Formats: sequence, C-alpha cells, structure tokens
Amino acid sequence: MKMANLLVISFMLCLGMLSTTIYNVKLIACASSNGISTRFYDFKVQTKRVTKLCNTKDIVTINGKFPGPVVYAQEDDRIIVKVTNKTPFNITIHWHGIRQQLSCWYDGPSYITQCPIQSGQSFTYNFTVAKQKGTFFWHAHVSWLRGTAYGAMVVYPKANVHYPFKNPYQEHIILLGEYWIKDLQEIEHSTLASGGAPPRADAFTINGHPGPNYNCSTNDVYQLDVVPRKTYLLRLINAGLNTENFFAIANHKLTIVEADAEYTKPFTTDTVMLGPGQTLNVLVTADQPVGKYSMAVAPYKSGRIVHYQNVSAIACFNYLGAASDSLYLPAKLPKLDDKLAVKTVMDGLRSLNQVDVFKEIDKNLFITIGLNVQKCHSKTPKKNCQAMNNGVLAASMNNISFVNPNISILEAYYKNKKGSYTEDFPDRPSKFYNFVNGAPNNIPHDTQSLNGTRTKVLEYGSKVQLIFQDTGTVNIENHPMHFHGHSFYVVGYGTGNYNPQTAKFNLVDPPYMSTIGVPVGGWAAIRFVANNPGVWYMHCHIDIHQSWGLGMVFIVYNGKGESESLPSPPLFFSFSIKLFRTFTGTNADLLYVV
Ligand code: C2O
Repeated sequence: MKMANLLVISFMLCLGMLSTTIYNVKLIACASSNGISTRFYDFKVQTKRVTKLCNTKDIVTINGKFPGPVVYAQEDDRIIVKVTNKTPFNITIHWHGIRQQLSCWYDGPSYITQCPIQSGQSFTYNFTVAKQKGTFFWHAHVSWLRGTAYGAMVVYPKANVHYPFKNPYQEHIILLGEYWIKDLQEIEHSTLASGGAPPRADAFTINGHPGPNYNCSTNDVYQLDVVPRKTYLLRLINAGLNTENFFAIANHKLTIVEADAEYTKPFTTDTVMLGPGQTLNVLVTADQPVGKYSMAVAPYKSGRIVHYQNVSAIACFNYLGAASDSLYLPAKLPKLDDKLAVKTVMDGLRSLNQVDVFKEIDKNLFITIGLNVQKCHSKTPKKNCQAMNNGVLAASMNNISFVNPNISILEAYYKNKKGSYTEDFPDRPSKFYNFVNGAPNNIPHDTQSLNGTRTKVLEYGSKVQLIFQDTGTVNIENHPMHFHGHSFYVVGYGTGNYNPQTAKFNLVDPPYMSTIGVPVGGWAAIRFVANNPGVWYMHCHIDIHQSWGLGMVFIVYNGKGESESLPSPPLFFSFSIKLFRTFTGTNADLLYVV
C-alpha cells in the first residue's frame, strides 16, 4: 500500500515537471539513486480524423496525436511502452536508432523480430537506452503506417553531463514528413498491385504542418518563436516515407553537431539533406534583423525518373517582435538534383573525437542495392504490370528481393524452426559488371531479381566491412540504408563503381551512424562489430523500396561470454502490467517514472 502511494506521488511529481519542460529545457531527473530511471509510456494506437489540404480522412496515430507523443529519457534509462492496438490494422513500433543491446525482442520490425500486434491486442516494449543519447524517433514498422504513426524520441545526457557545445537557449524538434490525401494503406496496396511507381505525396510537412504553399494551408503552419541573438538546438528528423529532403532556414546558417544520435565536429552549412530515417542536430542563432524567415523543406531528386512533390513545405522562424503581417523571407534551397550540396554535408560529418576503427576485417561483404523490373506474370498486364517494358517494379540487395516470412524470423531462429528463411544471403553479387553505367536496362537483358527470405549469419564479435554499391538498373538513386541493432562507421563513399585501389577511407574520425545515404550511382563503405546477438533488419528507409524488397537480415549468433547471449523471449511482464492498471484513466503519454 505504502509502495503504491509513493509511486503515485513520484508519478505526479514527474508529470508536473515534465509538462513544463517539454520542448525546451533539459529533462528534470526524477531518478532513483543510481541516476537511472524507468519511464512508462502508454501508447494507444487509434485512428483520428484530420483535415488537411481541404480534405478530411482518418489516419492512424498514437494517442490521437499527429505527430505522435515525444518519448523523453536520459542515457541508460529503461523505457517501457505498452502499445495497445485499437485500430483494425496490424501494427508494431520500432525505436529507430536505439541499438537494443540484448533486447532484440523489442526492436519492432514486423515479421523480423515480432509478429504484428493485432487489432485489440497489446504488446509491451521494454528496453534500455544503454550508452546512447541524442535524437531518435519511433515509428510504426508495418506496411506504410509509419506515414502517420511516428514521433520523436529525445535522450538527454546524464545529469551534470554537458553537451560538447554551449548550452542552447532552447531545443526544438523538427519532424519532416509527407502527407497524402488518399488513404495510405490503399495507396500502398494499389501501387504494389499496379507494378508501377507510387504517386508522389500531396505535401511535405514540418511537425505535421504543410505550410502556406499548399491548398487550404495558410493557417496550417508550424511556427517557431525565437528571441533575437539566442541560439537554438533543432533536432531534425526525416520521418517521411519516400522522399529525401533538403532543409534550410532563410538567411541563417546551420551548424551540425550531431548525426544519428552521435556527436560530430561542428560543421556549418546553409542547407542540409536528410533521407528518410536520418536525424541531425543543428544549432542556429537568431542573428538576423527581426522578422519572419521561412524554414523550408524541398525534395532531393537523386533519381531521374521518379516523380516528386515539388512544392516546398514552409514553417515560420519567427523573431519575437516581428510584425504579425510581415511576409516570410524565402529560403534558398539547392537545385532539386544538387549532388554537390549533399556531398558537401557528408564530407563535413566527422565524429567529434578520434575513434578506434578496427583495421583487421573478419568478414568482407559487397552488396549491390538497386531496383529491378520483373517479368509480368499477370493475366491483366495493363492493370498489374505498369513498369517499364511492361514489367513489375522490384528492388533488391545482391539481386535478391526480400520477402517477408509469415512468422517472425527471430522467433523461428530462437526456436530453431526451419522453413521460413534461409541462411544463404550471398557475400557478393553473382557477377561483377559496370554496376552504375553498364546496368542491363533494356530487353533482351535480364533486369530481374530472385525472391527470397535470405539471411546472413555472423559469428558473435565478427568485424565486418560492408560495401554498398548502387546499381543503375532501372534508375540510379540515393538510398538511405538503415541497420537495426548496430551503429556503423561510415569509412568511405564515392561516386561510380567501388574500386579498392582508388577508394579513400577515413579511419580517423568517420561518423558513427545507423542510416547512410549511399550516394546516387555510387558506393559507401561501413564497418561494424557484430556484437549484438539477434536478428537484425538492414533495409532502404524509402518505404516503397522496402516494399519492393530492398532489404536483408543479419543473424548475429550468441557469444560465449557473459552478456553475450540473446535473453529468452518476453513473458508476461507482470510488474509493469499491474502498474499500468493502477494508472488507467490518465490521458498522459508518459504514465510515470520510477
Ligand atoms: Cu526506421 Cu527498419 O526502420
């Protein structure tokens, strides 16, 4: 009884403190004596009716919020999120960028680490943010639901640990998204059934708002109020589905200080590019004359034949004291296909400190990434085979298009159930050719891929180098490749075909990332240690590419030492469930902290 009372009190205290701190001040620690807290969140998956761009539709949200609730934590905290599905659709939630050390069961990609949470059911995620801090996000990891079911996740440094830069006056979250007027699941379904390319988004959004450039959106604008001369930390997250985006603020410089939740050497630029799945923290100082400046989001059109929404989303960077009727000063964004602007920022991403990248490699992998056209097997080709040469679009890694199994691979692996996947993902493509310029694009050449649920097994502790090579089959394009369960050093990248003789590597201060934009018509080299046992998805974070099969799975075996084995699957987590019951009826996302 006493215990329960205590919990209620600490719950209320924390809630009170949090409500005043959201979005700008450091989280006030509400921690137990070792400084590590457990934070309980309640996520109800529910549809919500929204009106945007003069249209009303139901979207899938968490707790009726769009974008969804922010998950706050401190380095090393435990996060427990009970997800209850009150929609008719299947769902899972992925904690993008969290390495899930020894907690693969809670990673979230459907059919990879868990079966979807079905209508009416719930699942409780339970993991620590071990040795991680910075900007993350969470999103649905089933079909295209993440188009509306997403939100930010902010992990602060431990109490009394400072940022490696001057404390900003305030911090703000900037979530980039894409919005469709039609129902997203219908679009996904009809796109895949057509065999062709998806329709472009109807709008880009900033924190859910498209801004004045779109129909009926003059008042649907995100506004950030700033005090002259103060410095702000913006946590930029690209939660969009299918488009890579440039971001800029009119007349203001951005200084990148963190990428994928790892500090970087400060790098100042006019514009940044984020692919879906990428996060960047930038500092911006309100050092211009008092006024209204636009914060603008436009597409990076790396692929030649892809259709992009070409209208910019605009938010308002509003100096306090600016006349309310003043116009927004327009931002200068790079040309749609400005590869140099992308390369300049990539060149500027360096780990804050010198790092210790291994030099001896246990496993060398060379993986092509790109699109394919499969032969038409439909009896109604006009309807189902709308890709070039009357084929069906696909995408692949080493020319294998990933097919979701119908049970979770992690469960199959753990229980030693054979049959749902194979372990023969190849270390290299079956043939080497001029991948970028000599790709077999026209009939009678073969542009097809093989289908399969193939995994690559890695011994615990393997030191892996992986070269991603973009192919020109169908189209060269920048692919944001994301890896679950691990971060990797981006040791090199370039345009054209990878050539080990001429490739330049940075083993001194490469960035440590979990999503890498492999340059259009180029390559990128990453290195990681496979030290997290479990089943880990690696895929292109452009959802249509993922739907077409641009993914594969690594299985990392258990090691021999202590804390080198995957724990057993989640059982009934009685403690948390009991507490959850105590607090039903509150409407908060964050239930309490102990
Ligand atoms: Cu954010 Cu598997 O993705």
